[in-house]
Amino acid sequence: MEIEKQRILTGLKPTELPHIGNYIGAIKPAIKLTQRANESFLFIADYHALNSVKDAKLLKEYVYQVAAAWLALGVDTDKVVFYKQSDIPEIFEINTILSAVTPKGLINRSHAYKAAIDKNKKLGKSDLDIGINMGLYTYPILMAADILVQKSTLIPVGKDQIQHVEITRDIAARFNHTFGDIFLLPEAYTSKETELLPGIDGQKMSKSYNNHIPLFMPSKKRRKLIMKIKTDSKTPDEPKDADNCLIYKIYKHFACKNDIEEMYLGFKNGGLGYGDAKQILFEAIEKELSSSTEKYEYLINNKQQIDNILQLGAKKARSVAQKTLKEVKQAIGVNYKN
Ligand code: TRP
Repeated sequence: MEIEKQRILTGLKPTELPHIGNYIGAIKPAIKLTQRANESFLFIADYHALNSVKDAKLLKEYVYQVAAAWLALGVDTDKVVFYKQSDIPEIFEINTILSAVTPKGLINRSHAYKAAIDKNKKLGKSDLDIGINMGLYTYPILMAADILVQKSTLIPVGKDQIQHVEITRDIAARFNHTFGDIFLLPEAYTSKETELLPGIDGQKMSKSYNNHIPLFMPSKKRRKLIMKIKTDSKTPDEPKDADNCLIYKIYKHFACKNDIEEMYLGFKNGGLGYGDAKQILFEAIEKELSSSTEKYEYLINNKQQIDNILQLGAKKARSVAQKTLKEVKQAIGVNYKN
């Protein structure tokens, strides 16, 4: 596949501030992709987040945090259309139209909905839909609208979202079959980096396990956190199992080939102690993230700049969306002139 010819699109859910696991697994590969692609659309999926965030102040804060994080990490807004989903009303019109060609059975099979049902089953609930709102249920249709309205072709996503892109293809194909070829069928793109980074305790890195390393934090705090990474009690001289060492597992994503090899051999042959290895890891993370940390701090304290960027992005995104919506309305017969 020629990345250079693709129109990339992905949605960023503003539910929490991303950590270094999200950075390595999703943010960095997506930004890299936008640097190669023909055109790119990145947006904050705030209406998707509404399904779980029901606090106006918090939602607003998350939107700024996620926008500032991606901008600080290198989204080039000259090349990338960067906007907020809620600023593009055309998405929601398309959402309604797509609902009319989406079989309920297709959505019943969505993993996220099935997982919610299974949870209720396990809890022994008599009503399996209890606690599940329609927004969660129709989540894949809104996602299809996000993707199809911009006529995007390549969708970088985590493994958990691949099914949603497949549902999008299915919905697009049904629409096209019924009304004529309007939509492009997008493909999911998962980078090999989506292998999950372990947290400092060895479980999958996640805010909910409180074992994550935040992306942006003062150096001193970052160092302190990295020093807490769990290891066994081998002395510096003893040979160690690098492949199962958390320090090494994280370091692999922040260093060049030679440096990775050096740490590997230091562990394998003995000679490299965990304390020194943690210092090396700290320095590598610091090198990768210190300038982004400064940018993030600046943006989060100058929210007006984030607003300006998002507004400009919305303008560009809307002009594409309006064109698509017009074609769609003509195809279905609601936008006619005698
Ligand atoms: N559902 C995605 C997530 O949870 C976010 C998202 C919303 C998205 N709309 C999208 C991703 C469109 C790709 C394309 O992370």
